[in-house]
Amino acid sequence: MKTLIEPFKIKTIEEIPITKREDREIFLKEAFNNPFFLRSEHITIDLLTDSGTTAMSSKQWAGLMDGDEAYAGSRSYYKFENIVKEITNFKHIIPTHQGRAAERILFTLLKGDNKSIPNNTHFDTTRGNIEYNGIEACDFPVEIGTIPELEAPFKGNMDVERLKNYIQKRGKENIPVCMLTITNNSGGGQPVSMQNIREVSQVCSENGIPFYLDCCRFAENAYFIKTREPGYADKSIKEICNEMFSYADGATMSAKKDGLSNTGGFLATNDDALAEQAQSLLIITEGFITYGGMTRRDLEALAQGFVEVMDENYLEYRVGQIKYLGNKLIEAGVPILMPTGGHAVYLDAKRFTPHISPEYFPAQAILCELYLVGGIRSVEIGSLMFGKRDENGNHVGPPMELVRLAIPRRVYTQAHTDYVAEACEEVYKNRTKLKKMRLLYETKFLRHFTAKLEYID
Ligand code: F0G
Repeated sequence: MKTLIEPFKIKTIEEIPITKREDREIFLKEAFNNPFFLRSEHITIDLLTDSGTTAMSSKQWAGLMDGDEAYAGSRSYYKFENIVKEITNFKHIIPTHQGRAAERILFTLLKGDNKSIPNNTHFDTTRGNIEYNGIEACDFPVEIGTIPELEAPFKGNMDVERLKNYIQKRGKENIPVCMLTITNNSGGGQPVSMQNIREVSQVCSENGIPFYLDCCRFAENAYFIKTREPGYADKSIKEICNEMFSYADGATMSAKKDGLSNTGGFLATNDDALAEQAQSLLIITEGFITYGGMTRRDLEALAQGFVEVMDENYLEYRVGQIKYLGNKLIEAGVPILMPTGGHAVYLDAKRFTPHISPEYFPAQAILCELYLVGGIRSVEIGSLMFGKRDENGNHVGPPMELVRLAIPRRVYTQAHTDYVAEACEEVYKNRTKLKKMRLLYETKFLRHFTAKLEYID
């Protein structure tokens, strides 16, 4: 059979709001043209994020009931720790309530004068936590990874030569850790190859720099390695995961993605001294070492989620659904980042609305219209999220201006996906009418979450 089906059936449903365009115009205005301010009861299809929006399985729901809510030494924690160790083989698994809590603990412990942390591309909260601790965050994506229209199997890779030069220039003593984000979310949900993980690891170990993975979407990355990288077709997802993690000294994880859960995360490390300090900080700010800010039933759901996420039928469907949406858009001529990645389709705003230059937030203009057309919420990954001003106040934008249509796991059907494609086509047909935008309000860190914008006539 050629038709790819959802490898599950639906046991419980949640109504989705169907609204009218004239109402959506009011809602968006009240939200200052920032979808983060929209109420979900005004959204028909919510593609803001794939994080914490997963539909859990019946086994996970059963696990919630079975959770052992002991403050210390909970059976649910040991189940969670066990499966995370099976996947990663790291020595210390420190639970946190979500990914950024793991980031905050790690970077608080690594801070110091004149420090810098490289990555293929830091995600917004990772960058935020690094910069908040006075550390420089720098990105070294491979060049092809920043050109949306070009296809390559592993556009999430890090540019190893640039990394080497940077270490030389900056001094290895000033780089407390080097990271790789798998898959590269800000770079289009693009995977990182095993070869690249191995090479970055090698450079780090030659320079005595610890190497950490930001591994929120590790299973999707492993599936791409299995299907795209020579030599891995016959390996199981778990074997591939074991190899990926074997090259690293630790990891930060938002389990709200590939933990198939609505909350959770961890910091993992092989470094005994760092683990001891991290656990002290965890107790001060998150919770005891066997729950770290989560209810124990959440740990139970995660333990089951980590098993389900490595199922190849699930991963084939997951990556297939993203590709299905991407192909529909390509057929309609809508410019997207190629090829489609693991968790989202990204509209390429530079080709979509060439009449709006980056300082006027072209991707934000597109996503506002997408909400007005179909009640679909998405997120900007471009100048609003990552833009800065130079010393003369001029706009400095990131390499790409993208609208991310992040697909929650196991939530939307093929008909929902068709609806999203139709709305994107409609916005594209009327693209020349889209207007420039400007900021009315912004904060110093992570401004996109609470920014207020208006149209310029
Ligand atoms: N790292 C990456 C690559 C992420 O995508 C995220 C979250 C985090 C770290 C932080 O994890 O949310 O659990 O604190 N990404 C979400 C997104 C928010 O929409 O892509 P968190």
